This record gives sequence, structure tokens and C-alpha cells, in this order.
Amino acid sequence: MRYKIAPLFCRPWTLNGISPRLIESHYENDYGNALSSLNAATAELEALDPATTPAALIHRLKRDEAALLNSTLLHELYFASLGGDGRTLPEPMAQAIARDFGSVKRWRDEFIALAHGLAGGPGWVLLTYVPRDARLINHTTAGHEQSLAGGIPILALDMYEHAYHLEFGANPAAYVAAFMRNIEWDTALQRYQNAVKVEPPPRLIQKQFADIPSITVEEVKGMIESGRPVQIIDTRPRHYSTRAHEIMRGAVWRDPERVDEWIGELSKAEPVVTFCVYGFHIGCETAVTLRKVGFDARYLVGGHYAWKAIKGPLTLLDDTSSSGFGPVMQRIRPEEPLADPQLE
Ligand SMILES: [Fe+2]
Repeated sequence: MRYKIAPLFCRPWTLNGISPRLIESHYENDYGNALSSLNAATAELEALDPATTPAALIHRLKRDEAALLNSTLLHELYFASLGGDGRTLPEPMAQAIARDFGSVKRWRDEFIALAHGLAGGPGWVLLTYVPRDARLINHTTAGHEQSLAGGIPILALDMYEHAYHLEFGANPAAYVAAFMRNIEWDTALQRYQNAVKVEPPPRLIQKQFADIPSITVEEVKGMIESGRPVQIIDTRPRHYSTRAHEIMRGAVWRDPERVDEWIGELSKAEPVVTFCVYGFHIGCETAVTLRKVGFDARYLVGGHYAWKAIKGPLTLLDDTSSSGFGPVMQRIRPEEPLADPQLE
């Protein structure tokens, strides 16, 4: 592949406080060099045989290729970020920023703070849309190759010294202010509107249990912390539990193959949460069984390991005083600190 040069997107003579000389130098030397080096690295990679080339050489070339490609892409975005008056945000853009940052002012203050924080060191300040979360986020990079995975940058501020030193010298704050005065929000909105069309990565779908209500570990943690009653049943299979040493604090273990023996301990007046190791089958099937006889039962998404992954508190499985094999209707006192990730 040979990458082609993109023409300057902004019109340098229209910029306010950023001279054509600075843009021309930046475009020709830094963007142009990134693109030509990218093509050289790509050609070198295409010419070698990965089966016989030393792995260290391939690693270096691929690392260079990624950095140079990102530099090329971000410089094109940078030049496309300039050309407006910086102040006039189209209403949909202003709404999206206010939704994700609280207000346009708060977004602006954070973006500028990030730029000032980068002053003196190489990197970029980016406003990026993340399809996974359907939201915008400001972030910085410490080089060319640290864009957010899956994110789509819609606004780029180049904080490499070459972007400003020619005219602003050792005053990056003045350069940042000039950039903010020249943001072209109309095309930023176009990029945002394109970005939101990108579907998030597919999530786990429990087709077999699509109709069974579930609950997340964060929601259960919130219920416990607020003191809301909840009956939490760990239904990891017996053969698994005999090897396990820990259990979610507040849960009791019950054999999923002997529901009839313990179902009488449950109250229909309060919700029930069931879970297994990863949240796929046993916890779901137990929830189905309980719902059939009138319990408000839901399965815990992600199971035992999702609870551990959010650093939910655990207790020893044989601790019958507050969890483990104790009574289902035991309660966690709301004042107990649930943020403690340590195994007790
Ligand atoms: Fe640059």
C-alpha cells in the first residue's frame, strides 16, 4: 500500500493568530515527513519475508508503521480542525458535548487544561467518540500511537513543539488559545455525526435466557450499599465450590441440583439474585426455576468473576457467620464498607 498526501483542509490565510508560515512548515515538514516515512516503512515490510526475517526487525518496523500512520491520520485531523471562529458550535455538537461533559465550558476548560499539561512534551489532545460507550471523551497521548482503542477522534490539537515553536516560542499557552479561537466546529460536527453511526462492538447475548431478567454486579452492589434487602444465592456447581475458597460477601452457597431442599428458605417478598462462575448457565437456570414458582429472581450478569472484577468484597466460603453456607435471609449491615476489595 502507498499512502497518498491529503491537501491542506484549512485555508491558512483565514486563521486568526496562526500564520500561513507556521501551517506551511507544519504541513510540509512534519506531516509530509510522516507520510513519506510511513510509505518507506510500508515498502520495507512488504519486501521482507516474515517467515525468515528476524522477529525483532519486524517488530521495530511494525511499531514505526503504527506510529507514522497515527501521525499521518492525526495531522490530517489537526489541519481539518482549524478554520472556524472557535466559538460557534452547531446546536447538535453543543448538545453532545454538554451531554458528556456537563457543559461546553467544562469541556473547553478540560481540553485546555490537558493541552497545558502537555506543554513542553510531545503529544496530542483529542476529543474522541467511543462507540462502545456512545460518548465523547477528552484525552491526551504521549506520542503518536496512543489513540483510544475503537475510538474515533473528531478534534485534534497537536502539542508537539514543532506545531508552535516557530512563532509562539516557549509560550505554548498562547498557541493553545490561538487553536481554540480557530476551531472549525461545522466539520467537527460532520465527523461526530459520522462517528455515531458506528455500531458498538457486539455484547454477550444470552440467547437461551433472553427472556430472563438479569442484574449487573454494579446494581447489586448498589442495592447492598443502600441497605435494600436482597437474597443472593451462589449456585456455582458443587464440584466447583468444593475447590473454591471465597464467596461474594452477603451471598450464600446453595447446591443448584437440590433447589427443592432450600427453596423454602427464600422469601417471595424480597428479590433474589442467583449467580454461578461466569454467569452463563447454572445461575440462569436457577433463576428460571425460582421465577416459575413466583420468586422475583434475576441472574447476575458475569457471575462470580464479574463481582471479583469490580473488586466486590469477598469472604471465606466456610465462614458461616455472615456468608458461605449460612442462612439465606441473613443481611449485610449497610454500614459495612463494601468498597474493601480485600478478602476477609
Ligand atoms: Fe505536528
